[in-house]
Parts: sequence; structure tokens; C-alpha cells
Amino acid sequence: MADKVRVGIIGAGGIAQGAHMKGYATIPDQCEMVAVADLNEKVANEAAEKFGIKKVYTDYREMLASGEIDAVSVTTPNKFHKDPTIEALNAGIHVLCEKPLAMNAAEAKEMCAAARDSGKILQVALQSRFSGPGRFMREYIQAGNMGEIYFARAQALRRRGVPGWGVFIDKEKQGGGPLIDIGVHILDFTLFLMGYPKPVSASGKTWDMMGKNPELTNNFGDYDRSKFTVEDFAVGMIKFENGAVISLESSFMANQGENEIMKTQLFGTKAGANVRIWGDDPIEIYTEENKQLFDLKPRNIPKVDSPHTAEVVAFIEAIQNGAESPVPGLNGLILNAIFDALYKSSETGNEEKVDVSF
Ligand SMILES: NC(=O)c1ccc[n+]([C@@H]2O[C@H](COP(=O)([O-])OP(=O)(O)OC[C@H]3O[C@@H](n4cnc5c(N)ncnc54)[C@H](O)[C@@H]3O)[C@@H](O)[C@H]2O)c1
Repeated sequence: MADKVRVGIIGAGGIAQGAHMKGYATIPDQCEMVAVADLNEKVANEAAEKFGIKKVYTDYREMLASGEIDAVSVTTPNKFHKDPTIEALNAGIHVLCEKPLAMNAAEAKEMCAAARDSGKILQVALQSRFSGPGRFMREYIQAGNMGEIYFARAQALRRRGVPGWGVFIDKEKQGGGPLIDIGVHILDFTLFLMGYPKPVSASGKTWDMMGKNPELTNNFGDYDRSKFTVEDFAVGMIKFENGAVISLESSFMANQGENEIMKTQLFGTKAGANVRIWGDDPIEIYTEENKQLFDLKPRNIPKVDSPHTAEVVAFIEAIQNGAESPVPGLNGLILNAIFDALYKSSETGNEEKVDVSF
């Protein structure tokens, strides 16, 4: 491998330019973006010009076959995560794949198998755990300060936040709505803090009564209400092998008081905590000492300018150090398996098994 990791981008849209390419550009001594591929040549050319990338492809397969790439970001819509990821891994190329890892657990299993067989890194782009609150809480919990965390309430709730760009309202290309798109962030964050226990079953319910309604306003741009095929609200209860339970709420549209809530409440035997992924005073901890109750606000939470950049840097460093994936594909598989069970449960009305066998 060349000294610098030679990076290619597959899908040069919003998240590629706004997070991945920006992130790689911050570490020019460690990596170089050598090529970009997008079905839309105009988008690929714009991205290449913006980031000074020499080679542009409309077919990512040609880029993978060039022999000039050590690692790729897969930043296409969800339906197009699986094929480029597997093909890259099979070609001996490391992959940072956007979230959710796949449309469903069956796809995620194929991707994890390709990573295992190739020995290359498959990292899922779940940046919240790289945030200041993520780092602080993980350390605080690992030091035993919260005791056993047996319940969490995870919320990713937007009031009027249907993405008006891309294909986020198209179930066929995304696999689902807010549950799979933003619920994935808060569920990963919560599971990360709880040490990723193994899920066993889940029950859930989804609705689509608001997203289709042309009478309602939307804060994230306009979109065609008749093309809205995903849920606008999802709730779930997930049970884990260790006895813990997570309740999850996720919406693109919901009548509640904040434009966007991204938080988790953790209930432990020694302490509880309210944790937001961003914002001022993101953490409040609830404890008891000498029969007195305390509400604590940590003041030295690590400062992380961009969790997106931190995830990209972690990817490159893991490649250079021959380390494990900083966000393993198997975490992505667990998330997909939980979503499969929640969507199925909404249809059947039953509690469903979460199948993470691999
Ligand atoms: N981590 C985050 O916070 C975050 C935020 C936004 C989006 N995302 C994820 O990033 C992915 C892309 O979202 P986006 O907002 O950038 O979408 P986007 O529509 O802005 O960009 C996707 C790009 O992929 C290209 N593309 C589609 N199929 C392709 C193919 N087969 N080969 C090459 N290019 C192809 C499209 O032409 C488009 O330019 C999704 O999986 C989404 O869930 C993650």
C-alpha cells in the first residue's frame, strides 16, 4: 500500500461532500482522494472540482478496477450500499459505508461476510458515538458510575423534518423512513453506551398519516406528498438477552414541542442520565449519595468540532494501524435486524424475534 491511503468516493451527493470529503481533506498527510464516482456526471465533476480530485467515473466498478484505490466511502442511497461495498471488499479495498448499513439484515449479513472473508475494514458511518457527549458518557459508564443500565428511552423526533432532497421518502430506495434514517443514529448511540447487548425480540408500530398530507408544512424543503411511501412516525420496544429494554421513538413529522430532539435517557442502578448528542449542556446525570439526590452537569465534556470528521479520521487511522473497524459492520447488522423486526411487528401486530445470527 502507498504511504498515504488512496481514497475513492462512491456517490458524491450531500453527505459525501458535506462530511466524508471534508473529513478526508483535513488529513492530507494521511490520505489522498484520488477518484470520485457518481451516476450523475455533473455531481461527480462538481465534487471533483471542489476537492481537487483528478479522476471522475460514472461507473464505480471502473474505479474499483483501476488498482489505484485502497479505501472507499460508500455514500449512495441505502439501496445502493450493498453491491459497491461487497465489490470493494472483494477487491481488497476498505469500506466506510453510510448508515444504515443496508436495507435489511439479510443484505447486512452478506456485507459482513465479505468483510470477514476479505480481512478488510468495514466501518459503518455512525458518527454520533464520536461526539463529545458520546465519548464522555462511554467513559463515565465504563468506569461503573451508572451501575447496570436496564432501560433506555431513545428519541429521534422531528416536528416537520421530512428531507425535501434525495430519495428519503422513497421506501423502495431507502428501506424505510425516520426509523431507519434518524432512529438509526440514536439507537446506535444508546446501544454503544450500553455496550451493544444482544437483541432478542421487538414490537413496534409505524404510522404514515402526516407525511402524505399536502396541507401540512415542512421545515426541510418541499417534496411531492403523493410520492411519500415511508412511515412518518415509528415507535418500538426492543428486548435484550441481558434483560435490558430500549424504547425507541422516531419521526419525520410529529406534533411535539421541539424542531428536533436527538436524545437518550439512560436508567441505571447507580445513576440515570439525560444525554443529547449536540447542543449546550447536553448531559445531565441523576445520582444519590448519603440519602441526598443530586443532578450533575459535567463541565469538561470533550470538544469535538465535527463527529463526521472524527469518524473519517478513525477510519483512515484504523487502516494505517491495521486495527479493527472503529464502528464494526456487525453493529450495523444488529441495527438492521432490529428495524426488520420492528417493521414486521407493525404489520403482524405481534412481538417479533430479532435475528442477528451470523
Ligand atoms: N451520517 C449521516 O448523518 C447522514 C446524513 C445524510 C445522509 N446519510 C446517508 O448517506 C447516504 C446518501 O445520502 P445523501 O443525503 O448524500 O444523498 P444524495 O441524494 O445527496 O447523494 C447520493 C448520491 O449517490 C449517487 N448515486 C446513486 N446511486 C449510485 C450508484 N449506483 N453509483 C454511484 N453513485 C450513485 C446519486 O447520483 C447522488 O449524487 C444515505 O445512505 C443516507 O442515509 C447519512
